[in-house]
Amino acid sequence: MKVVSTAVEIQALARGYRDTGLTIGLVPTMGWFHQGHLALMKEAGNRADKVIVSLFVNPIQFGPDEDLDNYPHDLERDCKLAEEVGVDLLYAPNKEFMYPDGFSTTVHIAGLTSGLCGGDRPGHFDGVTTVVSKLFNQTLPHVAVFGEKDFQQLAVIRQLVRDLDFPIEIIGHPIVREKSGLAMSSRNSYLKKDEMNAALSLSKAIACAKRAAGEKQDISVQEIRKIVTDVILAHPECGIDYIEVVDKTTLQNCEVVNSDSMLVLAVKINKRIRLLDNSIIQGN
Ligand code: PAF
Repeated sequence: MKVVSTAVEIQALARGYRDTGLTIGLVPTMGWFHQGHLALMKEAGNRADKVIVSLFVNPIQFGPDEDLDNYPHDLERDCKLAEEVGVDLLYAPNKEFMYPDGFSTTVHIAGLTSGLCGGDRPGHFDGVTTVVSKLFNQTLPHVAVFGEKDFQQLAVIRQLVRDLDFPIEIIGHPIVREKSGLAMSSRNSYLKKDEMNAALSLSKAIACAKRAAGEKQDISVQEIRKIVTDVILAHPECGIDYIEVVDKTTLQNCEVVNSDSMLVLAVKINKRIRLLDNSIIQGN
């Protein structure tokens, strides 16, 4: 596996692949790889001849009071893990290369970004769509794979690709979970032992809501939200950012629960660790 750090190098290598008829799968990441990232890399490998993984902790998608400075980081460890799953190129640019003095472009998607995580983290999705647009132009992928844990991010990226005519197929990969049910996330590494039960309340709450929806076909949105809220707030460490039932494509709040309804949650553990989880309510 080759590790490169500049746009010029990665673009030249990507062009070289394309010129010889090889397809490219991109997995954009912020590093500190876990099994969820590795599953995205394997998926990219199933769908393209060459896999490029970008590793960049993107400062412009973090708010002033967020965890940019503490975001876990170990390039050597990540290189080893990526190499083991057959990644061809790891692209780890530095901040000065991505955002040189004078950088002044923002890619903004209206509508889809206003609620949920966009409501709690103003400017977050502008940072995501700006960096992902740059990564697409730098790595020239045919396919890009994103995790469904960041469900709103995935919807926003699909909109970005449609609106700006990026000739890239976007693949969503199902959430990868620990045996305990906890959705894998780099931020899980912040959890202390005594915070684990609180963290597990997200997947437990989803399981309770799904069970209730299975038992009562005409369950209401309010009933689902109450079930989930009760399970989560049983843990004093938990603070709810949002618990919503939304349409899986438009992300608009659902009036009734149907086969397109997604339960989406963002919960802060001890005001420090923001965890996301989601699931379709009816079905798997
Ligand atoms: O999901 C992430 O890790 C980041 O938001 C992404 C897509 C790599 C952009 O920085």
